[in-house]
Amino acid sequence: MGFVQEMRTNGNGLLWRASAVAAIGGLLFGYDTGVVSGAILYIQKDLHANSTEQEWIIAVLLLGAMLGAIISGWTADRFSRKWTKVVSGSVYVIGAIGCALSFSVPMLMGFRFLLGLAVGAASFVSPLYISEVAPPKARGGLVSFNQLAVTSGILLSYLVDFAFQNVPGTWRWMLGLAAIPGLALAIGMLTVPHTPRWLVQRGRNDEARGVLERLRSNDDDADVDGELQEIEDVSKQEKNTRLRDLLSRTVRPLLLIGVALAAFQQLVGVNTVIYYAPTILKSTGLTNNGSVAQTVFVGVTNVVFTVLAVLLVDRVGRRPLLLTGTAGLTVALALLGLYFLVPAVQHGAPWLALVALLLFMASFAIGLGPVFWLMISEIFPIGIKSKAMSVSTVVNWLANFVVAGTFLTVTHAITQQGTFFLYTGIGVVAFLFFARKVPETANRSLEDIQEELTGDRGERQEARQSA
Ligand code: BGC
Repeated sequence: MGFVQEMRTNGNGLLWRASAVAAIGGLLFGYDTGVVSGAILYIQKDLHANSTEQEWIIAVLLLGAMLGAIISGWTADRFSRKWTKVVSGSVYVIGAIGCALSFSVPMLMGFRFLLGLAVGAASFVSPLYISEVAPPKARGGLVSFNQLAVTSGILLSYLVDFAFQNVPGTWRWMLGLAAIPGLALAIGMLTVPHTPRWLVQRGRNDEARGVLERLRSNDDDADVDGELQEIEDVSKQEKNTRLRDLLSRTVRPLLLIGVALAAFQQLVGVNTVIYYAPTILKSTGLTNNGSVAQTVFVGVTNVVFTVLAVLLVDRVGRRPLLLTGTAGLTVALALLGLYFLVPAVQHGAPWLALVALLLFMASFAIGLGPVFWLMISEIFPIGIKSKAMSVSTVVNWLANFVVAGTFLTVTHAITQQGTFFLYTGIGVVAFLFFARKVPETANRSLEDIQEELTGDRGERQEARQSA
């Protein structure tokens, strides 16, 4: 059964609300990373920012996100997923208002860094929270809902940039408006429950049962006792995990998968492609109506194909989407390389760049985009889950920072086509790695997945049988 049908039959208001509120964190992640591309033109004029300062106004958010991901890996366990999200919503509000009121470059950088902390936290605590309230059959769609919020946030930021370009205050509105969803996130999270898994981890099993009963109230087939028992069993074994357990024999292979997905998601150059889309599109001669309109085109493709991923991910599984998507974006990168390599193609077949660009965006949106965040919310054992997700997320932001920071240098060194061929090579390696190492996790309980991946399924089954 697909995600929509599953949610229609067995979902309920609380499950929808909890997932939607958590996904506001994703919306802000997309908005705050996307908005600055349009705003920077006006910031540059207003605050007299030179080009190095402009680069740092953009990049400092990525550094903040790394730190935010580290801190929230700890707070999500210690103070709960819920409270981490309440705080990150509040930080979003302070960061947005602070940015909007900034009167100097250092002040703006400071508040962008603060925003980064919230972005880093939200980027993985949102999928973490949703994966822990979702029923197995709809988990892929619900968690990918967060990626849909990310892509919608990016698109929204382009539209806001477009709408406010002639309004007095321009960039201050563009950056400041994010305070509204920030507030909705902070307040909204106060109205939804803790996740059953976090409650069990803290020994609050009765509360966990209450939450599970409320989340599954419409699902006639739901086995709340069984679900709770499974969480308790796994939680008992994982109780005292420490940071160094990330490198234990059982967790290490999983961490490798998480970290590889994280790095590859960025190393195929998604954000430089998004960033350079207007330049590439302009050179095709197909659209020349201003770069914002063209960027919106790419943003829409990203959203539309993420919707498709949400609808398909529980039906066809994670692996087919990941592999098809990675193959598609690798072909697209090769086409882009070819486009820049052969001048005759640029003149004779300008549409090729457009086709390649859309193929890239669509393939990313259906595969690596959502599947990375989904997978890292599914493969790790509960006791080490938030720490392992945090590490994977830090790697993702680090790779994002490295790709953004090296793109221009690399293109100068090995040309534009060389850079796209480099990304193509990375795409090939990513495909081979995913094909060999990434497991299928659709339609299984988180506990079942982890039992298989850590290799102790047999032991646990024996223990259950003899009990
Ligand atoms: C990635 C971002 C990217 C976005 C694009 C996310 O999953 O982590 O770096 O900008 O997708 O849709």
